[in-house]
Amino acid sequence: MATTVALLGTGGYGRIHLDRLARLSAEGRVELIAVADPAGPSELVPAGTPAHATLDALLAEHSPEVVIVSTPIHTHAPLAITAMESGADVYVEKPPAAGSEAFASMQAAASATGRSCQVGFQSYGSLGLPRVGELVAAGTIGEVVRYEAHGLWLRTNAYYQRSAWAGKRRDGDVVVADGVTTNPLSHSVSAALHLAGLDRVETISTITTELYHAHPIEADDTSFIRVDPVETGQPPVLAALTVCAAEQLNPTVTVVGTQGALRFFYTKDEIEVLDDGGAVVSSERAGRVDLFDNLLDHRDDPTVELLSPLERSSGFTAVLQAILDAPEPTALSDSAVTWQDEGPKAHPVLADIAHWSRAALSGGRGYAAAGAPWASDDAVKVHRVN
Ligand SMILES: NC(=O)c1ccc[n+]([C@@H]2O[C@H](COP(=O)([O-])OP(=O)(O)OC[C@H]3O[C@@H](n4cnc5c(N)ncnc54)[C@H](O)[C@@H]3O)[C@@H](O)[C@H]2O)c1
Repeated sequence: MATTVALLGTGGYGRIHLDRLARLSAEGRVELIAVADPAGPSELVPAGTPAHATLDALLAEHSPEVVIVSTPIHTHAPLAITAMESGADVYVEKPPAAGSEAFASMQAAASATGRSCQVGFQSYGSLGLPRVGELVAAGTIGEVVRYEAHGLWLRTNAYYQRSAWAGKRRDGDVVVADGVTTNPLSHSVSAALHLAGLDRVETISTITTELYHAHPIEADDTSFIRVDPVETGQPPVLAALTVCAAEQLNPTVTVVGTQGALRFFYTKDEIEVLDDGGAVVSSERAGRVDLFDNLLDHRDDPTVELLSPLERSSGFTAVLQAILDAPEPTALSDSAVTWQDEGPKAHPVLADIAHWSRAALSGGRGYAAAGAPWASDDAVKVHRVN
């Protein structure tokens, strides 16, 4: 029997879900029984699919077994909770919630209803993660010193103008939390936390944030994050992330050891082994389990573990909450930023960002400590978690 599915949010990233649902429908594994989107169904929704404006209207007529939540971040928790309370398992896009409180209410709903909730940090399905773990355990790079998430991306004005919530920290009373660390490059942080064994909040002692923006937005578009473990002597997770680079490079999570490093390209499932001089010694590509397929497999056979259950995002949610609790991101001065292109394609380029992000990571203390001329100690805040 095909599993009945409803999709919330059919525009934007919902299109990726519609593509996957088309494949799984063709295989007879799922049946898309309804969608909900206040903007109306996007053109990729198969003709004849019942379309509603809200989840409540959808649930008044349908009882899906699985609900996919691919909507703005601040709507995730209320929609996922309503869906679980209706008896559905949920696939919720990342980040799962716009703060620790909303996240805790999702966890409470999952345990009260007994429903499964898979979080769409799709790199959690990468077989590169266990493979990196194997290579570390085999002593390939000596002792692990730190985990580095590094993202040099480019986002245009059009990206931040595409929807009302883009680039906001809050919208009135609503927590939006749409910064570089919590949205476009969130996978780098979640993958690094996963590799470091810091993806559960109880393993984290402090989180350091250093947040800036060059785009005319409220949220951070250039950030340094440091996550220190509760267990003393264990390596930290560091992240240097921007969407203000001159060109977009493949983001990485690097496990730095005393005798080399492992560079994991988490969007491509590729791993490079580097010697202690930084030269690539070997490379390999791992496979990937699709997290939605994994949710279906788990429903069919509960001994199949969810690869990205809610609790494995509690560490990431603590990072998101620290970013929300941090002072407003510091606006970068005009002298540090060059704008390239025009109109919707215009994008800021932060001076020497590739150099300063490497320096922020290798020093372990961020941009200001590394001496970036546009950075300031005032932007640094340490948050105690446990
Ligand atoms: N996994 C990934 O790699 C990845 C990539 C991009 C975006 N995302 C996530 O996908 C989600 C959506 O992001 P986006 O960029 O597509 O946003 P978007 O604003 O472009 O699209 C969101 C869609 O949801 C609809 N919507 C809004 N409120 C709704 C509600 N209450 N009920 C039903 N539909 C509603 C909107 O009309 C729109 O069609 C976010 O959580 C984002 O972080 C994930």
